[in-house]
Amino acid sequence: MKVLVTYQSETGNTEKVARAIFEGIEESLATKTLAPMGEVEDVSGFDLIFVGFPVMGHTVPPKAANFLKSIPKGTKVALFATHGSLRGGPLAQTAFHYGSTLPSADVLGSMGVRGKVRQSVIDAALKNLENKSWGEEAASAVTHPNEADFADARAFAANMLTRARG
Ligand SMILES: Cc1cc2nc3c(=O)[nH]c(=O)nc-3n(C[C@H](O)[C@H](O)[C@H](O)COP(=O)(O)O)c2cc1C
Repeated sequence: MKVLVTYQSETGNTEKVARAIFEGIEESLATKTLAPMGEVEDVSGFDLIFVGFPVMGHTVPPKAANFLKSIPKGTKVALFATHGSLRGGPLAQTAFHYGSTLPSADVLGSMGVRGKVRQSVIDAALKNLENKSWGEEAASAVTHPNEADFADARAFAANMLTRARG
């Protein structure tokens, strides 16, 4: 089985999670490749593609959205994202909803992990009444992603691989 782990990462959080996912893919079960999204030239030929991105403006950033659209029909996909908001909260769910509605992808599962948010983004949110509560929530992501998140990411990888092989 050929597996690609690819990611968009602006400040490094999603890249760290991508590396943990990559580690979690057992080499005896798959031939694996890890590459940032911009360096992936050909998405055909993979049996399973892990696609990671930072949640931005409550959704999938355009670069990752375009990448997802380029994945050939029938390819198995696992989504992962980092976000400042609380794990499992509605904001993170909205981003995954987008992925799961893509017409061509066979989305096996998704995982969200909190990621430290750039201070300028928090400061801007705190100044704006509408985004103030998000800003306060996002500030508490400062210690993420952490070792527990990486362990979850490795387990997610193993789980998705089992599903893809099933
Ligand atoms: C411009 C911008 C917009 C963001 N919008 C959101 C958002 O809507 N919801 C959220 O939970 N986090 C948001 N974040 C926080 C990032 O998703 C989070 O810090 C993520 O871990 C960054 O990943 P990266 O280091 O791989 O780029 C935003 C960050 C930036 C810089």
